[in-house]
Amino acid sequence: MKTVIGTDITFAKLLLEKDELVAIPTETVYGLAGNALSPVAVTKIFEVKNRPSFNPLILHIKSIDEIEKYAIVKSEYYQFLQEFMPGPFTILLPKRDNIPDILTAGSDKVAIRVPQHPLTQQLLHHLDFPLAAPSANPFGYVSPTSAQHVYENLQNKIPYVLDGGEATIGIESTIAEIKNDQLIIHRLGGKSVENIQEHSILPVILVTQTAKFQTSGQLKSHYATSTPLYLGNVAELIYQQAGKKIAVISFYTDYSGTNVTTFPLSTHRNLTEAAATLFKTMREIDQLNFNIIIAEHFPEEGLGRAINDRLKRAQFIYRDETNVDSKQ
Ligand code: TXA
Ligand code: MG
Repeated sequence: MKTVIGTDITFAKLLLEKDELVAIPTETVYGLAGNALSPVAVTKIFEVKNRPSFNPLILHIKSIDEIEKYAIVKSEYYQFLQEFMPGPFTILLPKRDNIPDILTAGSDKVAIRVPQHPLTQQLLHHLDFPLAAPSANPFGYVSPTSAQHVYENLQNKIPYVLDGGEATIGIESTIAEIKNDQLIIHRLGGKSVENIQEHSILPVILVTQTAKFQTSGQLKSHYATSTPLYLGNVAELIYQQAGKKIAVISFYTDYSGTNVTTFPLSTHRNLTEAAATLFKTMREIDQLNFNIIIAEHFPEEGLGRAINDRLKRAQFIYRDETNVDSKQ
């Protein structure tokens, strides 16, 4: 199957109506989309992404008004949910029966998101069904933030990539759940904890460290480059790894020297900008001839928390044998 990149919403709609998959732009990362109400299309997503079927998919809807069609939510929560949606925020709610079990991997909860990207908004308005979409990377690899990234990974596996330019936020949505009148954050992401706390009428709890929710990201590496990545004190790691060709991912500091090239994510020292360039930089480094990547810890505030989360999971120590690349 030849993969085409374009901006034709009518063509994308036509394909989706035939249970074909289309990569779609969102403000966080590109998604691999199919008709969420069609088990055939949802099955294709799992196959193309090579994703284990126990890992559920996010439901993408055109507006918050549609939440009630697919999930159960108390009316008093609408107002504060409107502060976050549309945007880089996903809410986990009890699902209704029209959501196929395969989408939620058998769970009675569904994760719902309203993406803000204008092209995908337009597409959703043209469709009479919502879209299931995981990030459009092969399972375990870095998420795509441009149509070109998707093309490099899924070429010949899907018919169409809807090109909406570079993702502005560049890191996946924050995933939260309303439970016992608390807002529980399960995945750090594009909407910062501080921002959520500011607008939430419910107490905000962070459980991203618990093992229970991390069905996939914990032991095996996730968001990972093929080049082994080490996270920690950069100067020490450079010393330990002397002799290798090293790429450093830093916030703004320049660690360059013999055999060491620095890729600062934001010379302006801005964590939002750093988040927007993280995945693009990881992919760029992966295409160059480095033996290893060393990354520093970012400040634990704003989007720095989500950056640290992704870097932790990308670490070499979390890889299993089958996943180890022999580039060293
Ligand atoms: O920004 C994003 O969220 C992107 C764009 C494309 O929307 N999507 C994304 O999807 O990151 P994915 O599949 O790569 O990550 C979604 C995460 C997975 O870790 C999955 O386990 C969790 O959300 N998830 C989805 N549905 C769930 C459910 N019903 N219960 C618990 N976790 C769920
Ligand atoms: Mg993903």
